[in-house]
Amino acid sequence: MTNVFDPALRADPFAAYRRMRETGRLHQSGFGIHLVPRYADCAEILADPAWGHGYTAGINPFRPGVDPSHLPGSFLLLDPPEHGRLRSLVSKAFTMRAIEALRPQVTELVDGLIDEALEAGEVDLVRALSYPVPLTTICRLLGVPPADRDLFGAWTHDISRGLDPDAVLSDEEKAAREKAVDNFAAYFGELIQHRRARPADDLLSGLAGTELTVKEITDIGVLLLIAGHETTMNLISSGVLALHRDPGQIPVLLADPAAAVEELLRYDTPVPFPTRTALEDVEFAGHELPRGTGVILLLGSANRDPAAFADPERLDLTRFRDSAHRQLAFSHGPHFCLGAPMARLESAVTFQRLCARTEFTVLTEEPVYRPSVSMRGLATLPVALRRKA
Ligand code: HEM
Repeated sequence: MTNVFDPALRADPFAAYRRMRETGRLHQSGFGIHLVPRYADCAEILADPAWGHGYTAGINPFRPGVDPSHLPGSFLLLDPPEHGRLRSLVSKAFTMRAIEALRPQVTELVDGLIDEALEAGEVDLVRALSYPVPLTTICRLLGVPPADRDLFGAWTHDISRGLDPDAVLSDEEKAAREKAVDNFAAYFGELIQHRRARPADDLLSGLAGTELTVKEITDIGVLLLIAGHETTMNLISSGVLALHRDPGQIPVLLADPAAAVEELLRYDTPVPFPTRTALEDVEFAGHELPRGTGVILLLGSANRDPAAFADPERLDLTRFRDSAHRQLAFSHGPHFCLGAPMARLESAVTFQRLCARTEFTVLTEEPVYRPSVSMRGLATLPVALRRKA
């Protein structure tokens, strides 16, 4: 039995993943939930309507007895048909076309932050670049004043830790999650009233003009705010660390930043543990699993599965250049990441500008990871930078 949430595995979970893939398709976790380590199995479950979340049906085993209205997640936690109804209301804002239009402003933002970092010479890359790029971008799209980020920084922290299964959270952490959800509800409630009175050209104003309730809009706002920055932040930091460890890949990245981003997502997957609940009795990998069974899909492992990727432990930024084969970091099926075009744009621009304009060195060989397990990422990344000649 492997406890994939063990903090000792945080920096390098990959040998444990390999052992799990080699020894079976379904494993017991430490708290009565099953773990799925192989690519084909994760992809199958994510696309199968027999699997969902089961909150509405009251059968979710990850947060037994918790009222889903106190959870951050909006449609991320819902099953069809409610899931599709809410998702379709925001999906227009995230089409490739709508997101591509943001490229000039994202580039300007990234260049400004790189100028400041170069001026300083040494920075914590997480604070200097990984955090502000996605946060500022999602705030602008939503219509949330970026100046309020200090206000909700602590709430997003409590919520992202609270996304881990309840079994690994302390009572204080669960209470902090509920408090943060309440704080956000009050914050967004006020903002939505403002936008109803004076609509602006932003997503929140658009949603405020629909039949959605204030609670529904708030939940969507919190989902987009958190999903829209915690994840990309982690991709940028882990990507810079990977490039520092394998600098020969930097020219390869500069030749095709979009393909490089797919490989960096595969290599160190920022959302490694999505969960699913059996919505009916299912047969899987030779086991009869009753309705209400919970599984954790080990996407970090699936993305290193040799049955799906040749030489999977190697970082190869050319891997996705001509390949239509998909990595699973953005999930698959009905919950496929709505913000994927935005994440791809922000991270490609950040990596491209950083590698084109600077030479950087990570100043520690043992970077510190954040405590959250469902969002895998570095807490800090001290880096020295100088301008490229
Ligand atoms: C869903 C990963 C960036 C918004 C998801 C899921 C994953 C994921 C794995 C699905 C979870 C599941 O199947 O249970 C990532 C990664 C990102 C990223 C790795 C960055 C590197 C973003 C951004 C946004 C965003 C920038 C924009 C606001 C969402 C939303 C959902 C989602 C709204 C829910 C989709 C649904 O349930 O239909 N993301 N995400 N994500 N993501 Fe992302």
